[in-house]
Amino acid sequence: MKILILNGPNLNLLGRREKSIYGSRSFEDYYEKDLVPAFPDLELAYFQSNVEGVLIDKLHEVGFHYQGIVFNAGAYTHSSLALADAIAAIETPVIEVHISNVFAREATRHVTYIGGRCVGSISGFGLESYRLALQYFERQKPNKVGFTYTKA
Ligand code: DQA
Repeated sequence: MKILILNGPNLNLLGRREKSIYGSRSFEDYYEKDLVPAFPDLELAYFQSNVEGVLIDKLHEVGFHYQGIVFNAGAYTHSSLALADAIAAIETPVIEVHISNVFAREATRHVTYIGGRCVGSISGFGLESYRLALQYFERQKPNKVGFTYTKA
């Protein structure tokens, strides 16, 4: 199963950015040392961009042949109808993840444009939010077209 982990704006600064909220570990370190070894049966790929259009292009690129996408859209979560439309447009199921508990933060972060287009949302478990999302995909049995979840 091919799964893409897609990170949006400012997540390239994990480990250096607002450590009291996001922790002191870079995503690359967590990805290489924890996630990849924990999921030997998944074919994982990782991509990060600070640019909304680049994230949309990536969703289009993988969204008709990967089996899952774990997406932390960062602040675009709370503003981007274009990303919500891109998730709706593709066939690959997407799980929304957040490191912090966005519902325990400012009211503007309680709104998610993309959540309603995703299989589900995981928020507030630190970097482990990504592991929880991958566990969902790992436990799905691919159907005959290779997808684990049929979008409505
Ligand atoms: C975040 C939460 C967002 O509100 C914020 O803009 C981020 C990171 C998280 O992972 O907790 O950049 O998506």
